[in-house]
Amino acid sequence: QQRNKINVAIDGPAGAGKSTIARLVSNELGYVYIDTGAMYRAVTLTAMNNGILPDQENDIVELTRGLDIELIPEENGQKVIVNGKDVTQSIRSNEINQQVSKFAGVSKLRKLLVMKQQQLASSKGVVMDGRDIATHVIPNAEVKIFLTASVEERASRRYKEMLEKSPSIAISLEQLQKDISLRDQMDLERKASPLKMAEDAIKVDSTNMTILEVVQTIKELCIKKMGGD
Ligand code: DC
Repeated sequence: QQRNKINVAIDGPAGAGKSTIARLVSNELGYVYIDTGAMYRAVTLTAMNNGILPDQENDIVELTRGLDIELIPEENGQKVIVNGKDVTQSIRSNEINQQVSKFAGVSKLRKLLVMKQQQLASSKGVVMDGRDIATHVIPNAEVKIFLTASVEERASRRYKEMLEKSPSIAISLEQLQKDISLRDQMDLERKASPLKMAEDAIKVDSTNMTILEVVQTIKELCIKKMGGD
């Protein structure tokens, strides 16, 4: 059966599992996954490497215009390449975690990145995750998901993930909870497109759900919208 291609928007707070879920949903559907957070992170990293601060808006815009950000799908994630350099690991550092919300609050930067994201979504068949995807980037997306989980659950997932990667991590679960709450607050309270659930989005609270259950729930919504059964 011929199915219509659709766009899927997944928004939600830090650590709700958006990227894992979005990637798996895109695999299931044979769609392209676009991690918009990685774009804000790539700009933040490059700005910091060039000594540019979040309040230097024009410098940030100029820098971003000269950036070629590639998101390359891989089996267990995606590679992020900026002007030919692999920054997949470095954009996830603690330093970037702490600074990225400040850069993401720069409205001129948001305009530029939103335009890029809209171009990427224009031929449909994308699963895009971020904070403002359903509200600003692709408000006409056929499926809009707002993915949340309690702060405690999000912190404990991050903690486990970090322990797996490096068993001797220096950060405590308590500190992680504080960091996540702070990031939530900054993303919710900033002036330029704060994190907000679209009126017609479907809220999925993953606190007590497995990854597979969440993926299945979203996939079913998508198949319905594609006109499948
Ligand atoms: O999803 P993430 O943790 O990689 O996002 C990094 C930061 O970028 C986070 O502070 C929120 C911000 N962001 C945003 O403002 N808009 C998006 N569409 C995606 C991310």
